[in-house]
Amino acid sequence: MPLSSTTPLIVLGIESSCDDTAAAVLRHLPGAPPEILSSVVLGQQELHAGFGGVVPEIAARAHAEKLDLVVEAALEQAGLEMEALDALAVTSGPGLIGGVLSGVMLAKGIAAATGLPLIGVNHLAGHALTPRLTDGIGFPYLMLLVSGGHCQFLLVHGAEHFTRLGGTIDDAPGEAFDKVAKLLGLPQPGGPSVEAEARAGDPARFALPRPLADRPGCDMSFSGLKTAVLRARDQMLAAHGGLRRADRADLCASFQAAVADLLGLKSARALELLEGEERIFAVAGGVAANAVLRARLQDVAQAAGARFLAPPLTLCTDNAAMIAWAGVERLRAGVSPGTDLTARPRWPLDSEAAPMLGAGKKGAKA
Ligand code: KG4
Ligand code: ZN
Repeated sequence: MPLSSTTPLIVLGIESSCDDTAAAVLRHLPGAPPEILSSVVLGQQELHAGFGGVVPEIAARAHAEKLDLVVEAALEQAGLEMEALDALAVTSGPGLIGGVLSGVMLAKGIAAATGLPLIGVNHLAGHALTPRLTDGIGFPYLMLLVSGGHCQFLLVHGAEHFTRLGGTIDDAPGEAFDKVAKLLGLPQPGGPSVEAEARAGDPARFALPRPLADRPGCDMSFSGLKTAVLRARDQMLAAHGGLRRADRADLCASFQAAVADLLGLKSARALELLEGEERIFAVAGGVAANAVLRARLQDVAQAAGARFLAPPLTLCTDNAAMIAWAGVERLRAGVSPGTDLTARPRWPLDSEAAPMLGAGKKGAKA
């Protein structure tokens, strides 16, 4: 019987496209919500901490060393042997090529040894389909992917059908948070430290720019914002010989307000392009942890008469449960499995959209 039919599926997902080595086991019985039987994520953040970004060679080596251990742990936590699986799903792009290759090679090895069907998954599709895994929503819906490596609006029409409405033309917002933290002497990852510092700050104190706010459409830019923070910081240093606590808090709050304004404004615009009876706006990615941003996106959704969904953070950030789920979605959509898949550093979800320019600290964006 073909896997795309209504048969139950237990799928092992493998993810290694950036700086998280992850494996997960997911079970889906048609008509019932999918169950995550295990999800193991091994971060590499400390390996890259001294370099100011992810070093591709270090990432690839760490994935190659740890992937089989992570897969074993995922099977053990699920209480299953390899024989219990029905299929394998692996991230085959986009991302840092060495890491993607490590995952694809391991998955091909397992497929060759076990005869299990193998399906390649687009990492961005994994993020974009997560609200269906967590909340069982139907198509279409609007997705904002906002992390250290991604920033784009997607209209999700089907498991194989995405329209990119816009994205960053330079840095991803998480990257901007991380750089601002560095400029202000706050610890990495920058998002949580800037958010904590901003709680005591005045968001109106510094008049930071809102890049591309006036440009029609949904494209965004965050690198000028970071440079504006640098200038404001240098003015403070020149005026006071150092950065006072209140200045730092005000700078963090002003920066965070600018990011929330920009993402809120562009989200409202993207929502205008979402049709359908039950309109849903979902967010994914590490920056979605930011309470100020979440509140803003929720307000924007409400004003547009849309439902707002933010999956739990463990499923918003990079993980393999989303890859296993995207694999299930592809198989159910009738995509044929096979071991002829290749690792792709770039793999736009929407092949008709213009290529994105931003490269970002976490490698090429699709
Ligand atoms: O999705 P993620 O774990 O990894 C990828 O980038 O793929 O996102 C990590 C990013 C980092 O840049 C981090 O600073 C940012 O998400 N982040 C936040 C917050 N928590 C994490 N940014 C703003 N506010 C936060 N609370
Ligand atoms: Zn990701």
